Amino acid sequence: MLSASGTTIFEAMSALAREHGAVNLGQGFPDDRGRLDLRRAAADYVIDGHNQYPPMMGLPALRQAVAAHDRRFYGLEVDWQSEVLVTSGATEALCDCFLGLLEAGDEVVLLEPAYDTYAPVIRRLGAIPRPVRLVPPAWSLPYDELAAAFSPRTKLLVLNSPMNPCGKVFSRDELAVLAELILRHDAFAVCDEVYEHLVFGAARHIPLMTLPGMRDRVLRIGSAGKTFSITGWKIGYITGPAALLRPVTKAHQFVTFTTAPNLQHAVALGLGLDDEYFAGIAAPLARGRDRLVTGLTALGMPTLPCDGTYFVVLDVTRWLRPGEDDIAFCRRLVAEAGVVLIPMSAFYESGPPRHLVRACFCKEDATIDAALDRLRTWVAVQRT
Ligand SMILES: Cc1ncc(COP(=O)(O)O)c(C=O)c1O
Repeated sequence: MLSASGTTIFEAMSALAREHGAVNLGQGFPDDRGRLDLRRAAADYVIDGHNQYPPMMGLPALRQAVAAHDRRFYGLEVDWQSEVLVTSGATEALCDCFLGLLEAGDEVVLLEPAYDTYAPVIRRLGAIPRPVRLVPPAWSLPYDELAAAFSPRTKLLVLNSPMNPCGKVFSRDELAVLAELILRHDAFAVCDEVYEHLVFGAARHIPLMTLPGMRDRVLRIGSAGKTFSITGWKIGYITGPAALLRPVTKAHQFVTFTTAPNLQHAVALGLGLDDEYFAGIAAPLARGRDRLVTGLTALGMPTLPCDGTYFVVLDVTRWLRPGEDDIAFCRRLVAEAGVVLIPMSAFYESGPPRHLVRACFCKEDATIDAALDRLRTWVAVQRT
């Protein structure tokens, strides 16, 4: 039974935020309302009467747009009819991949800190998560441990790049090591790339699927929620070789069967936007990151490197009471400071670091400043 699983930490902390009237830098949803043209397209499609079940694999227009997007940004040649599946968000896409591919006893290599939906679903299917911890502060790959985590029973690697919660963007050299392990163990990869366009500075997002030998072994997941700042729409898409996508599509047919047609239609338009749109997605987020990082650093809350996503990790060692862990700290911070952050232990299977918390910067300047003001007041009280 899933009764042993708690309510996700994001939901729990957002509920606390509402209760305390706190500034919510916990859950990753942007203040940005999303483009008006896409919102209007979604509304018009409903009004114009497109409200019945769309095709199970997704509207052709959206599957074609996903294939064109993958060609435009990564040079991938994808057959939209057999190699693209539209899902109700990346969350469903991940679930479909696990449901469609895993058998009891299969092993799945996860890189921690790992997004919190992977392990519970994998375990529920009787498969075995094999977590490997990235090493802070640079979140580097421990190559020996990684190699040791692969075995003859490894079916999948789950790779999240750019990575929530730590903002790491995997380099080509790191991806090459992962690709080599996948080939050596005749395994596959599920690549959660929902933050593919949210990459800052000199960092570049490289899909594992583009590395030699990986085209037939990778399922690549994207999400309109992150690319167009519309997280509530829950439109995801999987690109993968037909043979691998077929069992995943079977799972999709039993889980949701299909996804709201008006939202698919609008996302198809979005994926077709010009290069200027895509080139401009990351800059406001990078500014939000810098604003938050500068403020936190000045308050004595140092941050770890962050090259992408909506999130940055901070080290709160200095502010922990004796014996206090990250969860207790975050709860206390909501009550005392009125600011919600997420404890990093939520992203570990066991024995997590207890001094790290995650903050979200995909917010308006006013929201970030309000959080910093409250933290400043709180810090002043701690120092007296
Ligand atoms: C790493 C990662 N994967 C998947 C998701 C879920 O995406 P969606 O909202 O499209 O279901 C999120 C959302 O925060 C995420 O951070």
